[in-house]
Amino acid sequence: DQTNPMRKNIILIGFMGCGKSTIGIKLSKSLNYTMIDTDHYIESREKLTIPEIFEARGQEAFRDMETKLLRELVANKTTCHIIATGGGIISRPENIDLLRQLGFVVWLNARPEIILERTSRNQNRPLLQVDDPLSVIKKLLKERKPLYKSAAHVKISTSDLSQRELTLGISESA
Ligand code: S3P
Repeated sequence: DQTNPMRKNIILIGFMGCGKSTIGIKLSKSLNYTMIDTDHYIESREKLTIPEIFEARGQEAFRDMETKLLRELVANKTTCHIIATGGGIISRPENIDLLRQLGFVVWLNARPEIILERTSRNQNRPLLQVDDPLSVIKKLLKERKPLYKSAAHVKISTSDLSQRELTLGISESA
């Protein structure tokens, strides 16, 4: 039943550090769906890391790559995939439309302080390599919330899940 978005793919959207990749891996194992992480896909296609793409090509070029990938997934009639996306994928209106064509869109959300804590562990997010990452997180969240909302079928808060709980979920089902 292709009219039911649940029968196609499950797409995880939301801000950096809300657990998209972690929950995506867990879901893909329990549903036996193939996992695609759009950030990883773009990195392997470009043979560059996300920070290198931002540095060498700029953020707009990265957004073009995200749109290109979503268009391909729709054109290929991709089904039975868990698609974990980069936090800014909703920046383009076309992408919101493509995400909803792909299936059931789940918005994972968390409080800014939690996001700061979860993202401060590594340096792979160019947008947060600034003096005051918490204000950048708050500003971007404010801009993006209406976009996540318009793309999503459901919203789930992951604020109360500890990193340990998120990670334990994976090893349990592994
Ligand atoms: C971005 C989020 C990142 C990555 C890039 C830009 C954003 O993905 O796509 O650094 O604009 O919020 P994650 O949400 O997987 O960290």
